Amino acid sequence: MDKQIALGCMRLAKLDINQAERLVKKAVAEGIILFDHADIYGAGKGEEIFGEILNRNPDLRSKIKIQTKCGICKGYYDLSKTHILNQVERSLKALKTDYIDILLLHRPDALIDYQEVDEAFTELYLSGKVREFGVSNMNPYQIELFRKFVKQPIKYNQLQFSLVHSHMINQGIFVNMSEKEAIDHSSGLIEYCMLHDISLQSWSSLMASWSEGSLIDNPNYEPLNEKLEILAKKYQVTKNAIAISWILRHPANITAIIGTTSVKHLQEITKAKKIRLTREEWYSLYLSSGHQLP
Ligand SMILES: NC(=O)c1ccc[n+]([C@@H]2O[C@H](COP(=O)([O-])OP(=O)(O)OC[C@H]3O[C@@H](n4cnc5c(N)ncnc54)[C@H](OP(=O)(O)O)[C@@H]3O)[C@@H](O)[C@H]2O)c1
Repeated sequence: MDKQIALGCMRLAKLDINQAERLVKKAVAEGIILFDHADIYGAGKGEEIFGEILNRNPDLRSKIKIQTKCGICKGYYDLSKTHILNQVERSLKALKTDYIDILLLHRPDALIDYQEVDEAFTELYLSGKVREFGVSNMNPYQIELFRKFVKQPIKYNQLQFSLVHSHMINQGIFVNMSEKEAIDHSSGLIEYCMLHDISLQSWSSLMASWSEGSLIDNPNYEPLNEKLEILAKKYQVTKNAIAISWILRHPANITAIIGTTSVKHLQEITKAKKIRLTREEWYSLYLSSGHQLP
């Protein structure tokens, strides 16, 4: 299967329309097809800018896939039928398109009524407004409930995943061990998604955390950056490409969502698709992120 990188549009509203258009066009030129949005990015401005780019480039829509999300409100989560339907209408209008390729439910809503989700998804699918459905930040049991009550298949799950946020990997490596890595953060999520042909997508693929910023050149992650540097030299790319190639190397065929607003960084990162880390290199990056094998 082709290694997949998608462009996350969470920061798109920070750019002016010309800069945003240049970034999106470069992304397409670099082979990126999937663009990841949410109703809340830039308080709605992310989708609006993208809609303006589509307006300026009428041939673009048919070449790309648009994914957006709904469910996060100020101070609460809402996956009710009314909210899902209203937000899809709002997103379609902002994006200036008549269909969304993939709709994700952004976060679990503790008060979710799965029958309502089924009604909303059925309506959206039959009207042609949404072609495929998925979730974000959800565990296997939550997805099992979708499988029980919702007719439209859940085909995607988007989760935080990177060299410095690797709970989904840790749990599989540290089965039944006493180390902190054995703590159950994800309930076997990566294996569950592979088992059910649910495509995983990684968010914050390069961010250490909101407060720390990017892991690249971050003094809090010196051993990791030293290892990234060595491999970047070996493969004649930059460190960000190696960090993304670590995600792409996993057999779950994870799509790495990258959130850069810089054309330079974008062009550096897409080189990751050509790299296949050896097993030893992949583990050495994992170990230099602060883990020890059991
Ligand atoms: N489902 C969810 O709950 C959820 C949550 C958060 C995000 N997301 C999605 O995931 C996407 C990606 O997440 P993210 O925005 O945190 O992305 P990311 O790719 O992990 O981080 C991007 C940030 O790192 C910076 N950066 C610094 N040095 C860099 C380097 N050498 N190379 C590349 N970037 C560098 C970028 O700055 P420059 O712009 O200057 O490159 C940018 O600010 C978002 O856009 C959004 O679509 C989803």
